[in-house]
Amino acid sequence: MKKVNLSIFASGIGSNLLALHKASKEENFPAKLQLIICNKNCIAYDVANKLKYNTKLITNKNINEFEKKVQIHLTNNKIDLICLAGFMRVLSPQFVSLWKNRILNIHPSLLPMFPGLNTHTRVIKSGMKLHGSTVHLVDKNLDSGKILGQFAFEIKNTDQKLLITNLKKYENLFYPEVLKKYIWTFLFKKDNFENRIFSNYKNVVFSY
Ligand code: GRF
Repeated sequence: MKKVNLSIFASGIGSNLLALHKASKEENFPAKLQLIICNKNCIAYDVANKLKYNTKLITNKNINEFEKKVQIHLTNNKIDLICLAGFMRVLSPQFVSLWKNRILNIHPSLLPMFPGLNTHTRVIKSGMKLHGSTVHLVDKNLDSGKILGQFAFEIKNTDQKLLITNLKKYENLFYPEVLKKYIWTFLFKKDNFENRIFSNYKNVVFSY
């Protein structure tokens, strides 16, 4: 089966990295995880190393130097597609345009609401009754590219830790599915792939 070469950029605790890793081990998943890039020494970096991935720690403060190094690794590993998974660095418009339609991100809000940092705090403060995440293409503006998928659930408890745990549980299910659909429909131009049915999750709406 034809598979795209995938790179994941991460700076967090790596739950989405792990979810994408697990999904990529499924026979019919259309991507092979080839390269992990971390911009700091973080849990995701340890997770990637433990899983024996080709993992690069690139810490240059200057964004041009950073991206130059990243680009070399992407080229050397014949990467087709990038998934940002808790990657806490804004990429330059030049880099984003070089990778147009080939960088996906997951952002923990119902975009276009609450782009940027400290999302959960702002969502709770706003009094929103719903929370969720968005998988989108990355363009030159922050958290503003084409929306590929979203899920939403009711905020029953405003304890931030609980809210994040809940949200990540759904992110980890959802991100691989949206990625799979994106590869099949936009890159392979086919629609005969199997969607995961999220019917067991009665309190969440998944749309992609
Ligand atoms: C996720 O909530 C994602 O939406 C945001 O950063 C967090 C990363 O979590 N962009 P993890 O490191 O994948 O667990």
